Amino acid sequence: MRIAILAGDGIGPEVTREAVRVIQTLDLPGLTLVEGDVGAAAYKTQRHPLPVETLEMVKSCDAALFGAVGDPACDHLERHLRPEQAVLGLRAELGLFANLRPATTFAGLEGMSALRPEIARQIDLLIVRELNGDVYFGEKGMRTTADGRREGWDMMSYAEDEVRRIAHAGFRAAQSRRQRLTSVDKANVLETSQLWRDVVSEVAAEYPDVTLDHLYVDNAAMQLVRAPGQFDVIVTGNLFGDILSDQASMCVGSIGLLASASLGNRQTQFGTFGLYEPIHGSAPDIAGQGRANPMAAILSAAMMLRHSFSREAEAVRIEAAVASALAAGVHGSDLGGTFGTAAIGDAVLERL
Ligand code: IPM
Ligand code: MG
Repeated sequence: MRIAILAGDGIGPEVTREAVRVIQTLDLPGLTLVEGDVGAAAYKTQRHPLPVETLEMVKSCDAALFGAVGDPACDHLERHLRPEQAVLGLRAELGLFANLRPATTFAGLEGMSALRPEIARQIDLLIVRELNGDVYFGEKGMRTTADGRREGWDMMSYAEDEVRRIAHAGFRAAQSRRQRLTSVDKANVLETSQLWRDVVSEVAAEYPDVTLDHLYVDNAAMQLVRAPGQFDVIVTGNLFGDILSDQASMCVGSIGLLASASLGNRQTQFGTFGLYEPIHGSAPDIAGQGRANPMAAILSAAMMLRHSFSREAEAVRIEAAVASALAAGVHGSDLGGTFGTAAIGDAVLERL
């Protein structure tokens, strides 16, 4: 079981360290951890946010655990050299088109939500975000118009096969949950979204057991804070999924609690190859202070055990340990508590 450890920038190394401690206590047979450089950390030593050696190393693994990338000191670099290109490059190079972002309110944390507790309590949803296409990966550039104005432009598009495969991922996820799928688009304005809606509706014929509905993204954003309990699985494109998943995180209380899995089609002898990362960023403002909440990273490790190593029992044990620590008041500064990164890691390990 080879796992690539890509800690990255800012709080990435701090939170990843705790997730690694959790994996190591499980005594998994044949476990090998291999570290690689990504992000600004890689740029500093190798002049590239995703060095070829890192990419090749990740390809030789069964799964990758990713911390975070991003560093304001790199904002002036050409886009292809910025830290974010590490994660975008991995997603593209490894064909990781399906990004699973679960958001569930932990018992006892209802009061931490930006929403009223009785609304927050209802949240148990999964965002299935397309990760290889959309305006993220279209052609883009800066140009000067004929009358001398600077203009930035980004091409948004989806091909039908790209929509079809993520639609299948959404329907299958819904089958394993409460059989409800909401597809989110902006078909009242965008051709990209019209195709999206048409293809998702076609795929629905293969899943008669799943109830499908469509929402425009503005309405979806509004429903997510008005009545989030109505959602089971949300399937959406890359850009809308990026935005809605950050919004969902504050609905459950903290972005420091949300994990994610990025999956493609590659199967290993253990399960599906995947990249696992907290949905939060590098948080440069608190980096190096030991204050970051490692729970999202730890929960990402749980998702890795579930999807890439078919170890459901261990995944559930980790999730239960995190839930129990939260219920016992083990709260980081993101939840108004005083527990630091290592102390939260200790509390989870104790329960494991
Ligand atoms: C995320 C992040 C990334 C994204 C950034 C770091 C490129 O916000 O994983 O949600 O936009 O996908
Ligand atoms: Mg994001």
